[in-house]
Amino acid sequence: LGQHITYLDTTTSTQTVAHEWAKEGAPEGAIVIADNQTAGRGRLGRNWFSPKSAGIWFSLILRPQIDLQAATQLTLLMSVAVRQAIQKATGLSPHIKWPNDLLINEKKICGILTELRGEQDQIHYVVVGMGMNVNTPYTMFPSELQNQASSLAIETGHQMDRAPLIATLLAEIEALYDEYLTDGFLPIKLKWEAGAGMLGERITARTAKNTVSGIATGLSSEGALLIQCDEKTIPIYSAEIEV
Ligand code: BTN
Repeated sequence: LGQHITYLDTTTSTQTVAHEWAKEGAPEGAIVIADNQTAGRGRLGRNWFSPKSAGIWFSLILRPQIDLQAATQLTLLMSVAVRQAIQKATGLSPHIKWPNDLLINEKKICGILTELRGEQDQIHYVVVGMGMNVNTPYTMFPSELQNQASSLAIETGHQMDRAPLIATLLAEIEALYDEYLTDGFLPIKLKWEAGAGMLGERITARTAKNTVSGIATGLSSEGALLIQCDEKTIPIYSAEIEV
């Protein structure tokens, strides 16, 4: 990873740029980083607040030989890698909120957006986007985000250089991705569960079809969130979670 890094001063969304490049044949590991995004995208069609020079906004192209269904494992892998990078760089231990939010003191520091293109069972490519609030001051967040978002600078009390943080991130992602390709999902699953903030707690998962409440117990071997509900264990593949 990181053999092909392109740095843009400003762009709409690094996801959009990465999709274009992937379609044109960009190799696995190619990365687009922007200092500023004018149309940053979050999950579920939301906007992603990406002010100039305040965070790390990047998208990574992967071309894994895995089933389409397994792509969710890449999101979980990314959240583990980002958690480890933050631990190394700051000494703080973020919690992972399923599937892929990183929280410190219950506030969101980082979000991950995995988008894939493929057909039948075959993945053409995956674009994994990561947005990390690094030096964003509290007052810069729009008021609707102030009680739910934070930055590393707010949590550590000091500004951080983004370049070494990016290097640490890429090293963690690369090490975990290599481990995933050789050993499969199990080691990632265990690390994810160790970093998850909500296991053993009562949660509510709202899926497109229904709402499930119960105790979050862990991940399935595929990467679904397992919720213990009465006598049954229900796997959740896609939902909004309330703890
Ligand atoms: C989320 O938590 O909703 C996911 C947020 C993902 C944001 C990143 S910033 C870099 C990349 N480019 C985008 O437009 N989105 C992702």
